[in-house]
Order: sequence, then structure tokens, then C-alpha cells
Amino acid sequence: MSDPMLKVTSLDVAYGRAQVIFGVNLEVPAGALVCVMGRNGVGKTTLLNALMGVLHPSAGKIEFQGENITKVPTYDRVRRGMGYCPQGHETFPQLTVYENLQVTWEAAKGKKGAIDEALDVFPRLKPFLKRRAGFLSGGQQQMLAMARAMVTGPKMLILDEPTEGIQPSIVAEIEEVIERLHKEVGLAILLVEQYVDTAIKLADSFIVLDAGLVAHVGTAADLHDADLVRLLAV
Ligand SMILES: Nc1ncnc2c1ncn2[C@@H]1O[C@H](COP(=O)(O)OP(=O)(O)O)[C@@H](O)[C@H]1O
Ligand SMILES: [Mg+2]
Repeated sequence: MSDPMLKVTSLDVAYGRAQVIFGVNLEVPAGALVCVMGRNGVGKTTLLNALMGVLHPSAGKIEFQGENITKVPTYDRVRRGMGYCPQGHETFPQLTVYENLQVTWEAAKGKKGAIDEALDVFPRLKPFLKRRAGFLSGGQQQMLAMARAMVTGPKMLILDEPTEGIQPSIVAEIEEVIERLHKEVGLAILLVEQYVDTAIKLADSFIVLDAGLVAHVGTAADLHDADLVRLLAV
């Protein structure tokens, strides 16, 4: 068996003295879509920020493509192929859609043509290239935030609640894009998702966090389990 693309071992993360993540183990195989689930405040975003080096774990190990990246700075994780789309679909509101992509592409030393490729994933953005991001709808901003992660040329995408607070018509569209990136493009995806329905549709496997601990690990089929649904009830 080949090594997983991402391997997290015994990870602890704290804000000062307040520990939020406790001994988390997690694997994302190449090409797999793994969901991180759990109620508000259980530590999902904290975990992702630690995976990207935005927060520094107090213990544990993070390996990407077989290399220990626990102490590697964020920009280097991005260059190694970890694309991050943080929670809240934040963009640079004063910059145009195109400038948002360009700034990220330059910072990540993206490949030639990567901006056009990202726009092909989100053709809905094409009519708005000269519009300031602050004037886009929530759904369009989420697409832009995901397109920004794509211009870095990721081997793995890390998405934090990409459909949160987005109008239902766009939610379906974003889910389709995630599915296509997973099934057709073959990207590994780590998706934080609160909704069981979405996870059943998209995930190969999942972990449930509860108060910073891994409470469950399973495959998509296990998500029909009633106890589990209770653990996830928002
Ligand atoms: N910057 C911070 N400083 C201190 N505590 C924080 C900070 N960010 C989040 N927390 C706390 O860490 C816990 C986990 O938060 P978070 O990772 O955002 O959860 P989730 O993404 O699952 O909703 C919460 O109790 C939250 O209040
Ligand atoms: Mg969160």
C-alpha cells in the first residue's frame, strides 16, 4: 500500500493554554475525499489552520506526500501542493475578480495558464473578471475563494465549509464542482462539512470531531447511523 497523501499523527493544538485539538489522527489517501464533520466549535477550523501552518501544533506530526511538514511555513505548504480555501469565503473586496486570482497566483508562484484553468472550473466567474470582489454575491465569492485555491495548482484541496450560508441554487453547483475535482481531476480533498446529506453525497470516508477529539471514523455508508446523526445535529 502506498502512503497517504496527508497523514496527521497525534495532533494537539491550543490557543495559549486552551487546548482545542486533542491527539487527532487523520489520513487522506491520494485522490480521496475525506470529510471532517462535527458541530460548531468542536475544532474543525482550528485543525485545518494547523494543517496549513496558520496555527502551530503543540504536539504531533503532519506529513504531506511522505515528508514531515510540521514546521514548514504556510507558503511552502501551498507550493508543495496544499490548496486552502478558508471558512467564510473571504476575498480581497477592493480587488477585482481577476486581481484576486492574480495576487494569489503570484504569491504561490503558480504555473502558466493556471488562472485560465481555474476560471474553466468556475465559468460563472468569467463575466465578472473586472468586478470588485466585494460586489459579488456570497455564492460568487465562494467560487472566487475556491478558484483562488485552484490557481496555486494544488494536489490536495482543503475546503472549510464551502457551502455555509450560500443560497441553495449555488450550493448544488459548488457541490458539483467539488465532485468533479474529486472524480474527474483526481484531486485529494479534505472537506469540512456540517451537513450529513452533503457528506453522504461527496465523501469516501469521514471523521467526526467532538470537543477536539476524533469521535468517529468511517465510510460514507456509516453516515446513515442514527447515533452519528445525533452527534452531528446542529
Ligand atoms: N483565535 C482563537 N482564540 C481562542 N480560541 C479560539 C480561537 N478560534 C477558535 N477558538 C475556540 O476554539 C474552539 C474551536 O473553534 P473552531 O476551530 O473555530 O471550531 P469549528 O470550526 O468546529 O466551528 C472553540 O471553542 C472556539 O471558541
Ligand atoms: Mg469552523
